Amino acid sequence: MFDNLFSPFKVRGLELKSRIVMPAMGTRFCEDRYVSQRLIDYHVARARGGSALNIVEVTSVHTPSAPSMFLSISDDAYIPGHKRLVKAIHEARGRAGVQLWQGSIAVGMDPSAQMLVASDMPLGPDYTCPGITAEMIEEIVACYGEAARRAREAGYDCVEFHCAHNYLPHSFLSGGINHRTDEYGGSLENRAKFPLACIRAIREAIGEDMALFMRIGAHDDCLEGGLTMEDTIQFCRWAGEAGVDVLDISRGNIITAANALEVPPIDLPRGFNVDNAARIRRETGLPTIAVGRINTAELAESIIAEDKVDLVVMGRAQLADPEFCNKAREGRVEQIVHCVGCDQGCLDGFADMEQFPAGITCLRNPLVGRETQWAPEPLSTKSLKMLWAFFSSLRIILRSFGLISVPCIYTSALCLPLEHFTPVIVRLLSIGL
Ligand SMILES: Cc1cc2nc3c(=O)[nH]c(=O)nc-3n(C[C@H](O)[C@H](O)[C@H](O)COP(=O)(O)O)c2cc1C
Ligand code: SF4
Repeated sequence: MFDNLFSPFKVRGLELKSRIVMPAMGTRFCEDRYVSQRLIDYHVARARGGSALNIVEVTSVHTPSAPSMFLSISDDAYIPGHKRLVKAIHEARGRAGVQLWQGSIAVGMDPSAQMLVASDMPLGPDYTCPGITAEMIEEIVACYGEAARRAREAGYDCVEFHCAHNYLPHSFLSGGINHRTDEYGGSLENRAKFPLACIRAIREAIGEDMALFMRIGAHDDCLEGGLTMEDTIQFCRWAGEAGVDVLDISRGNIITAANALEVPPIDLPRGFNVDNAARIRRETGLPTIAVGRINTAELAESIIAEDKVDLVVMGRAQLADPEFCNKAREGRVEQIVHCVGCDQGCLDGFADMEQFPAGITCLRNPLVGRETQWAPEPLSTKSLKMLWAFFSSLRIILRSFGLISVPCIYTSALCLPLEHFTPVIVRLLSIGL
């Protein structure tokens, strides 16, 4: 079952056990930019659940513009936390990548973070944020290289260059946002200079054996003068020459109504962007990932079986059910808890800065971010035998006096503090008592 989806994939030194990628998804589980235990537990649950590759969320490359609620890798001080995260993912038999990010105006959610924009951008009636200088461009390029060096040191298996969604590299690339008049603005060649310089810096830092992914939109939406598919294809060819191995084809941006395409809700068809990814793959010859509401194993299998792309992103599918991959691989499809595309727990948890406690969750899986807090404690065989003996005796005694039925035992047991008793109930039910 799903033989194509669960076939291996290799690029440079990266070997994946299946075609399913858990994409970068901001969680707000970090602690003041550092990796937290909560973030580790969240990733471990998905790696244990069979995810082939976990790409760790947007991670800042430049300290002055790093918002406090997102991860950072902009300083050596962050390396130990990333090392712990990677080690834990590896121990859970997964592979780990990290998404290198400079967020442009998105960092504005933290007023202390410095906002960087590609060209002068009015941000209110009285304020225009100036486009960054040529010196600053060089500084940021160097930051991408340094961040990639740290990612390698932390043990990541690959890195992803975020060149989509209106963050800084995409803002330079898109004629809908970049209105510079110097060598970094105007033609596609000029607009591509900054992102290509970042890619070269990353490739130089990670060496030849480490895979480099690039996230990019198939084309711009709702942006006058924005990127067409032809522009994107041309840029991806240049990016391939500069060192990118895999294209991760997303959609949408954060400054227009096209925001909805970035985390497509229920009213967009499943796999709505797959044909764009397939075309980009055909015309660039680069391994490609399809993205966007691919949330059933059947759909994912058909995309890979038809050889449209090489890999599929299954993001929210693995939020709703961390065991998605294992269940699909073992044919336990009816046990999968499917994402419904509501965006209420995940996207709202990411974007709503007022939400307390901070962090993503899921309408279908409230255990997101609480993976160990609520996980059943494993019971030893000895404890299980004792419980079995206890309940068997209790059942015999109560039944012989005709006092109570087995369902009543469960009902009264459920009245006990849930976090202590749920694992016991689950196990007793599973062994048929
Ligand atoms: C809570 C949340 C946070 C996200 N954060 C990121 C991010 O850090 N970087 C990124 O490129 N995309 C981000 N995305 C988009 C996802 O990577 C993915 O492209 C999108 O959810 C569509 O895939 P899916 O339908 O399989 O979930 C985020 C999505 C969600 C739901
Ligand atoms: S909250 Fe859960 S079910 Fe709703 S879109 Fe997000 S992952 Fe899917």
